[in-house]
Amino acid sequence: MSTNNPIIDVMQARHSVRRYDGQTEIKRSELERLLKTAFLAPTALNLQPIRALVVTSPGLRQKLTTATGNTSQLTTASAVVLFVNDRENQDDAQPFQPGQKTPTQAHTDIGALDAGLVAMQFMLLAKDAGYDTNPMTGFDHLAFSQILNLDINRYQPLLLVSIGVAAQPGQLAKHKTLQQIVAFR
Ligand SMILES: Cc1cc2nc3c(=O)[nH]c(=O)nc-3n(C[C@H](O)[C@H](O)[C@H](O)COP(=O)(O)O)c2cc1C
Repeated sequence: MSTNNPIIDVMQARHSVRRYDGQTEIKRSELERLLKTAFLAPTALNLQPIRALVVTSPGLRQKLTTATGNTSQLTTASAVVLFVNDRENQDDAQPFQPGQKTPTQAHTDIGALDAGLVAMQFMLLAKDAGYDTNPMTGFDHLAFSQILNLDINRYQPLLLVSIGVAAQPGQLAKHKTLQQIVAFR
């Protein structure tokens, strides 16, 4: 049901999709456009510790299926984006280069909040651009890091998001009522 409000419309239309058409290629420039805007999300102290690793390679995505139950997302999406917390958070010209070994900062849960906000914006922007998505925490962090050649001491995997053209439209999930989740004092 359209409300004539584009933000509300895209929020109402977004549903997790776990199976995609398996053939659409999303251009790198399009993924960069979505991510550039998504990364305008707020971060604690504006530290911007989140990094995104975009995996388009079908071979690599196939390998990743060995470390998650979320198989159809990985094999049929156009790409999956791994959002990680960079514990060192240097202003590297290029993130995820192998062989970087500098002392790690203490683990922080704030990164998970920052990543959630970036990922949410990415999913809404993707929906607005005609794609569907699925956020996933159900994957083996260590195995993913090994397959993707990431230093797990530096890059803490947080959230995986698939993006692609839905094989079938997503369905509205059952939601609690406002009375069940909101109170005023
Ligand atoms: C933090 C988080 C982790 C999730 N992990 C998975 C996952 O591993 N696999 C999966 O199929 N869906 C996963 N989901 C998707 C949820 O199941 C889904 O968002 C929920 O059922 C509501 O449906 P909707 O996204 O269509 O509104 C996750 C969602 C969130 C927010």
